[in-house]
Amino acid sequence: MHLWWLDAVLYEVYIRSFADSGGDGIGDLAGIATRLPYLRDLGVDGIWITPFYRSPMADHGYDVADHRDVDPLFGDLATFDALLTDAHRHGLKVLVDLVPNHSSNAHPAFRAALAAGAGAPERDLYIFRDGRGENAAQPPNNWVSVFGGPAWTQVADGQWYLHLFAPQQPDWNWRHPQVRADHDTTVRFWLDHGVDGFRIDVTHGLVKNDLLPDNPPAPGETITFFRERAEPHAWDQDGVHEIYQRWRAIVEDYDRRDGKARALVGETWVADPRRLARYVRPDELHLTFAFSLLAAPWSATAWRSAITEDLAATAEVGAPATWVLSNHDVIRPASRYGDGDGDGDGDGDGDGAIGLRRARAALLTLLALPGPVFLYQGDELGLPEVDVPPEARQDPVWERSGRSRPGRDGARVPLPWSEHAQPFGFSAAGVTPWLPQPDAWADLTAQAQASDPMSTLVLTRGALALRRALACLGGGALRWRDDLAPGCLAFDRPGVPGAPDQAGLTCVMSTAERDTTCALPGRLILASGPVGYDGVTLALPPDTTAWLAPR
Ligand code: NOJ
Repeated sequence: MHLWWLDAVLYEVYIRSFADSGGDGIGDLAGIATRLPYLRDLGVDGIWITPFYRSPMADHGYDVADHRDVDPLFGDLATFDALLTDAHRHGLKVLVDLVPNHSSNAHPAFRAALAAGAGAPERDLYIFRDGRGENAAQPPNNWVSVFGGPAWTQVADGQWYLHLFAPQQPDWNWRHPQVRADHDTTVRFWLDHGVDGFRIDVTHGLVKNDLLPDNPPAPGETITFFRERAEPHAWDQDGVHEIYQRWRAIVEDYDRRDGKARALVGETWVADPRRLARYVRPDELHLTFAFSLLAAPWSATAWRSAITEDLAATAEVGAPATWVLSNHDVIRPASRYGDGDGDGDGDGDGDGAIGLRRARAALLTLLALPGPVFLYQGDELGLPEVDVPPEARQDPVWERSGRSRPGRDGARVPLPWSEHAQPFGFSAAGVTPWLPQPDAWADLTAQAQASDPMSTLVLTRGALALRRALACLGGGALRWRDDLAPGCLAFDRPGVPGAPDQAGLTCVMSTAERDTTCALPGRLILASGPVGYDGVTLALPPDTTAWLAPR
């Protein structure tokens, strides 16, 4: 069986913002279909599509009311099936999102739980508890929601229900057999439709400490997604693992039937690489994002330790590390790495040119690492984070945090495809996209970049083509180089005996503040920016990555 996921490059399609075919300013399934040739030509192996299920959209689809149907905003089941067939025809795998931690408050099971009243068995499907204090007017414990505010909401009869995210996203009770059985049905439903796997939302959250004890008092507001240390009773409980064993068994059953491999990919924000690796033990998920690299600052030392630790921890359980620098929840790399104003908040209000240079260097290094890689839509265009004006913000984080955190809209602005003005080919001319696109994006459209040899799009296409062509890239070993240039991240990808590129490849990334030189006889294959090279000595400016074939 070909385990394609071991070294695949997958592209995250944030459906609302990818391509709008319906003319309502919101991306949809048919829109994705129109852009499949672009994705094929980009050179990715497949896509992960964010939730398109029936939802009131309180968290833009991560509040699911019916996990086995398509929301009319995005199309219908027939559109999905047609998209899947088309994607497969283009040689692209398709992963769909599974959102098992919570449902929408519009889910029939939650409505039934509310209607049934305190103490009714229907309430056991979720996490309802009586409050504390006088008249039980205080929440059952001190847990806070990831989006801000308490993690509990009180209902009319006085009970409280738990939601680790927005109040419109009540957490399922994963101790309940019916919850498990219902999700098995959902997994099978999409496998029957022919998907190649799932990206699974908040894999570290499904099971909570049964006693729901208070978490230690928070030192201040936790704004990171790595929360298991500050909130040890809510996250990364040992009980989650049997859920993934269950789904692995289901998936392997399908694999055995037709000899095709499918993949389960966890969104697991657990900081300790060894705890993280437990999610990809041989009978659990196939992959889980290595978010420690995403969270690492722009420093060769920080990158090296994140990569080393993730590789070591996953190797111990026989899984690859899964690399990612970007997604719809975090500040885009072209801004995150460019925080030149020095206030350390990573909001990218520093030097845009530095940020883009670093994002390009980071992308090239990412694609040279061993194992699967996930790119986020727009990374290939080097898009910056957008400072969405307060009146246009849609992410629930903005309101839930008392307007103290801008939220994630800045990473979710609809893609600029072509033309010189909004909607930049995202929607039909004249349509207003659901989040405003900056005028400056006229220079960043896919169309403009396609004909610019120095563009980030051309760089990404080149890197992906090489990753396909060179046997030493993709899966395999990584050997650190300490002999090249201090202050640089440098590693070899050893050649595969007998392959045309059997000399392998050396990747050098400079995070230094000054130009560096290193002795590296060979051939220059690709660089993220201008470098000097005479076949022996590489002159590497700051914030630049080069790929070389050694002689
Ligand atoms: C992680 C998703 O990526 C994010 O967008 C969502 O808000 C939360 N999980 C809750 O589902």
